[in-house]
Amino acid sequence: MAVRRTLHLARGTWGLCVLFLDHDVIVCARNGSPLIIGQGDDEMFVSSDPHALAPYTHRVVFLEDGEIATLTNTSMKLSTLKGKNFNPNITVLEEDWGVSELGDYPHYMLKEIYEQPDALRHCISGRLDRVGGNGRLGGLKLEPRDLAKVPHVRLLGCGTAYNAAEIGQIMIEKLARIPAVAHISSEFRHNDPVINPNALHFAVTQSGETADTLSAVKEIHLKGGSVYGVVNVVGSSIARECGKGVYIHSGPEQAVASTKAFSNMVAALSMFALQVGRSRATSKEQGKQLINGLQEIPHLIEEYLEDQGPILEAVEMIKDAKCVLFLGRGISAPVAKEGALKLMEIAYIPCLAYPAGEMKHGPIALLEEGSPVIFIAPNDHVKVKTISAIHECKARGARVILIHEKGDDIANEADISIPIPPVHPLLSPLLTVIPMQLIAYHTALALGCNVDRPRNLAKSVTVE
Ligand code: G6P
Repeated sequence: MAVRRTLHLARGTWGLCVLFLDHDVIVCARNGSPLIIGQGDDEMFVSSDPHALAPYTHRVVFLEDGEIATLTNTSMKLSTLKGKNFNPNITVLEEDWGVSELGDYPHYMLKEIYEQPDALRHCISGRLDRVGGNGRLGGLKLEPRDLAKVPHVRLLGCGTAYNAAEIGQIMIEKLARIPAVAHISSEFRHNDPVINPNALHFAVTQSGETADTLSAVKEIHLKGGSVYGVVNVVGSSIARECGKGVYIHSGPEQAVASTKAFSNMVAALSMFALQVGRSRATSKEQGKQLINGLQEIPHLIEEYLEDQGPILEAVEMIKDAKCVLFLGRGISAPVAKEGALKLMEIAYIPCLAYPAGEMKHGPIALLEEGSPVIFIAPNDHVKVKTISAIHECKARGARVILIHEKGDDIANEADISIPIPPVHPLLSPLLTVIPMQLIAYHTALALGCNVDRPRNLAKSVTVE
């Protein structure tokens, strides 16, 4: 009763467990923050993440806002803030979430970089129709005739998820010829967006708990739109709020700096782009090419990881820099942002990412003798334009680290050349991002930073 009365006065977001000195009882409540109850044999558990409960029990209850749970070791009583009792709705967690032990790796980030090929295999498995050259994302529950009527697509995310959303935007426009826009979640609802109920919205998130993205989803729901989750953590708040979507199946991601979840978000969005594309502007042949490309990616990443190029030389070049500039064009522009985010997050080096063509409109002023610039230039239709930007940088004394396709003459433009295996241009982010993850990882190590737990950051940000 005291908890209930207090909660009526409380403002903000919380996930609370109230303990009592003289009673063997825990009272739990939440508002905005995740709170999950695990039911064991003669014991109960409370967590903010369902997967933390997996070693103890698979039977969980997701508490909702406005609900109160009163727990003893053998009983669970649920009621609303108004005092109405109701029965718990128990969810049984899936078993195949995967292991999160470090094993032989020195850090989770390195482990997760190396897990990308297998994580991608999980993500695409059973979701590609090779004969029809189409994607098959059953969780979307969208038929070709529904997709053919979609006026536009909006994608929401924060941090790495936003960068993946930007890549999704480009793939959707390219394959489906309908407008697609990525939005930073934290800005979305405050800008009073106009929501078209016929449009598709995607909430892209690893944790499924990011408060900014959850608020954006609620804003769309409030305005009559529907949102599909592109989520890693099964049963998370955003997955449940959306009620439909695509699980990206990365398995547990422990390092704060996201790696394998980014790749799987991009892969999931590429399959959606293919699916909506096939209902409109993409031919069966083009679809088959993309499917072949996607199926090859895990192997190509393994090939690259076997022969990573001069990553440590690149680390030497950037580790004491005042600032590192990341440039890419087209689909590589968001990859540049992701590279900059990774390096900034874990090595604390100020980084700036720009579309390469925009460099001359501002960042060029930063360049001086020896400034390091990382270019991403896969073998696509904008490569020639990127070469002009490389020339402009070199003319100002900048030193160029270049991520490019193996065997491409563009390597001659570089001070440090990092080749990746040739890849379908639309899927190049899945390859070009890997050297940047490694550069960030090794730079953080060289500077003595805590790679997996960088200062001031959290893996899941449950406040707005
Ligand atoms: C935090 C993390 C970022 C992450 C972002 C979005 O800011 O530090 O690495 O990309 O949240 O997280 P989400 O779980 O929504 O993908």
